[in-house]
Amino acid sequence: MIQSGSNQLKVLLEREEIVKAVSRIAAEIRRDYQGKRLLLIGVLKGSFIFMADLIRQLDMDIEVVFVQLASYYSATESSGKVTLVKDIQTTISGKDVLIIEDIVDTGITTTFLLEYLKKKQPASLKLCALVDKPSQHQAAVTIDYLGFSLPNKFIVGYGMDFNEQFRGLPCIYCLEK
Ligand code: IMP
Ligand code: MG
Repeated sequence: MIQSGSNQLKVLLEREEIVKAVSRIAAEIRRDYQGKRLLLIGVLKGSFIFMADLIRQLDMDIEVVFVQLASYYSATESSGKVTLVKDIQTTISGKDVLIIEDIVDTGITTTFLLEYLKKKQPASLKLCALVDKPSQHQAAVTIDYLGFSLPNKFIVGYGMDFNEQFRGLPCIYCLEK
């Protein structure tokens, strides 16, 4: 348990569980893309640590780019409005593309990104997410490579934040106020 101001962080996933999940996902990706060149699109900012760990286990021909999206929330709910803050710096057409997300919560952000990228005519387009919160989905999203399916709790650490805090913590914690 970590106390930070009025926030309490409880460990939900230990380092070893995260390392194991990342290795499993890397093996699945290697198996599915054998002999191919893969374009990985990391969704900033939450996925950057997951992405860094994942690519070091891929041992294959990859290209790495990042995209940043903003979703607007009222007090508690997604408005469903997503905008592109930072666009992709490469061509997509004809490439095998894999999106790397931290969390699929309502699925609204991911759905927006999938639709946006589909229009650029990639050879294939798949989704990898470290965490899914299936009870929260408002849009139907298929996650091709998944680390953990979790209940509806707000999580931080391992790249994920609450108001830009806690990204550097090594485990995944749930935030309790
Ligand atoms: P969605 O559009 O509701 O699926 O969520 C979009 C983004 O919100 C995710 O990719 C995360 O970056 C962020 N997010 C959702 N739930 C959490 C959480 O529990 N902790 C930190 N960020 C979250
Ligand atoms: Mg995200």
